[in-house]
Amino acid sequence: MSIAFESAMNEPVSLNVQRELEKPEARADLVAVYARLRRLGPVIRSRSLLFGESLVLTRYEDVVSALKDPRLASDRRSITDGGKGPLERWWMPNVIKLLLDSMVMKDPPDHRRLRNLVQKAFTPARVEALSGRVERITEELLDAAARKPVVDLIADLALPLPLTVISEMLGVPGPERMQFRKLLARVVDPGSQNPVGFVLNYPHMVRLNRLLRRLVQLRREQPGDDLMTALVQAEEGGDRLGEDELISMVFLLLFAGHETTVNLIGNGVLALLQHPDQLRLLRDRPELIDGAIEELLRFTNPVGTVSPRFVREDLEIAGVRVPKGSTLTLLLASANLDEAAFAGADGLDITRSPNRHVSFGLGAHYCLGAPLARIEARVAIPALLRRFPGLRLAVPPAAIRWRPGMGLRGLEALPVSLSPGDRPA
Ligand code: HEM
Repeated sequence: MSIAFESAMNEPVSLNVQRELEKPEARADLVAVYARLRRLGPVIRSRSLLFGESLVLTRYEDVVSALKDPRLASDRRSITDGGKGPLERWWMPNVIKLLLDSMVMKDPPDHRRLRNLVQKAFTPARVEALSGRVERITEELLDAAARKPVVDLIADLALPLPLTVISEMLGVPGPERMQFRKLLARVVDPGSQNPVGFVLNYPHMVRLNRLLRRLVQLRREQPGDDLMTALVQAEEGGDRLGEDELISMVFLLLFAGHETTVNLIGNGVLALLQHPDQLRLLRDRPELIDGAIEELLRFTNPVGTVSPRFVREDLEIAGVRVPKGSTLTLLLASANLDEAAFAGADGLDITRSPNRHVSFGLGAHYCLGAPLARIEARVAIPALLRRFPGLRLAVPPAAIRWRPGMGLRGLEALPVSLSPGDRPA
């Protein structure tokens, strides 16, 4: 990204990128849709009904520069001199503003203060200590799956594993976990991102807010050896964490702690099944697992975009004038599939090295849970392959359904058969 203004600026192409990415065929074939977007230009002007206009960055080099650029803010208040909140709109109910107002959408000093409160729980060493527990949960889930004729890898492994791990870390009791999950599924449903869906889903948002407050109250009354208790104590300690900040932190950790890793495990297993040479290589050489996880992160893009960035001063990006106050959308998935950055970007290569993918973002907001996500995938995928040498898709590839939406990319279900047999037609 260069700073100087040049006399001849390019006018970006206009396209509703959100609509393009939400088409079912686009979700199934990421490579083609992002190649098309990059061909349209490094910057695309896009409008969304709910969130207005943004400039969308498609290329690796510009996405990486933007993620590290201090002239871009994550909190809209940074460019409106304390005006409206991160994605705040006049019509938004308070409950939504609260859930959106987490550290992902904050700048220093608030961002640092909030991140410091939870960072220690997610260091590689602390997370490594959880690996025994991750292994036990995985084995229990696979034992249960083994008793079924057809298994949905999402419902039977990829979802419950990270949901159980993050719930245990936070101290969320069993019954509330599925309740949270169900409400969350309604709230993040892209159907709720149009005005009618939004109104219909509003009661679920209110219920989700109530559930979070009940969980926090429970830990206030019955402290435990968990992260939520530590956060409640930080809040009670006074100036380090406010009540609303506490609620949005718990929401963020529960949400980011499982809605993302489910996609890494689900998309990852599907990609391996669709690339039998890579699957065979991984079975023959299990020591390749760490590189394989990085490549599955790059190639399958569990999280396709980061939260919006807001421009603090006039900039130029790839020859396009970007005025102060603009909103930027950074397409991580497009960056990860950019031929200019990755040789053979459109193929899966578990031996790829180096692999500088941006699936966890970069810079100040670099994913806090990256070590946890890596451990969960590193345990779950090899355990599945080891136990079930006959693992195969139980439906034709065309019958596989992706969840709609632009930010997260994951499967509705992944029906597999655990024993060898005839391939589906
Ligand atoms: C495959 C799994 C995951 C992927 C691909 C992923 C991706 C990301 C990305 C791209 C960001 C940057 C957002 C931005 O710059 O606006 C992020 C931030 C974050 N992630 Fe993850 N994530 C994953 C798993 C997790 C897990 C397991 C947790 C556990 C709690 C987690 C917690 C967070 C948090 C708290 C942030 C905000 C960090 C900050 O703002 O400083 N993530 N993640």
